[in-house]
Amino acid sequence: MRLDRFLAHAGKGTRSSVKGDIRKGIVTVNGAVVKKPEFQVDEEADEIRFGDTKIQYRKFVYYMLNKPAGFVSAVKDSHDRTVMELLDNVLTDGLFPVGRLDKDTEGLLLITNDGALAHELLSPAKHVPKTYYAELDGALTEDDVNRFLEGLDIGEKRITKPARLEILTPKTKAYVTVSEGKFHQIKRMFHVLGYKVLYLKRISMGTLALDFSLRTGEFRALTETEIEQLRSMKENASDYHYGK
Ligand code: URA
Repeated sequence: MRLDRFLAHAGKGTRSSVKGDIRKGIVTVNGAVVKKPEFQVDEEADEIRFGDTKIQYRKFVYYMLNKPAGFVSAVKDSHDRTVMELLDNVLTDGLFPVGRLDKDTEGLLLITNDGALAHELLSPAKHVPKTYYAELDGALTEDDVNRFLEGLDIGEKRITKPARLEILTPKTKAYVTVSEGKFHQIKRMFHVLGYKVLYLKRISMGTLALDFSLRTGEFRALTETEIEQLRSMKENASDYHYGK
């Protein structure tokens, strides 16, 4: 691949900023300074240094975004702004959001180019738990907790899988954990019980928790530990179950 693309993919800057860096002579390939951004490198075999730093090639990249309301979870959209537009200075070719949050939902969204991991995380058979913080237009009751656990008829072929509802103070606020991802699932579940969701934010997906130091609209690369935990969850995810 081209040297400028390699460096942008490795998070060293935008395609145009890394071109400038290459022309300044701070990039070496196998010990020799290369000043041409279009220079072809073998990303797996060549030793590429940016200043003093050796750049490790990574086929897959993973970002956590704290999604703001007003953006759609898609790579492209003809009407709305997409979450991809929030990834400033990231080479977004080949990246996509893992699953969808509604346009008005905030919170944790994983963005990657790792299709196999995404597939596993979204597979209904894997029961990967997703936890949301919700604010409702009425006070929740213990009966609602039981109804979430028993499963609700939201108009799908089957009732919803057991879900955990943890009522907070005040009782118009709650954490909800579901292990499936039907369209508008949380809003539809509350709707069946007579509530309207006024605010919804995803705070975790399997082992991955939203980093609360990220303000809405901000993102960061996942740490090695977070990536490892997601990968091991991929193998063990079907162990996650709630209730019965
Ligand atoms: N459930 C919803 O209703 N909306 C979301 O964005 C995610 C889950």
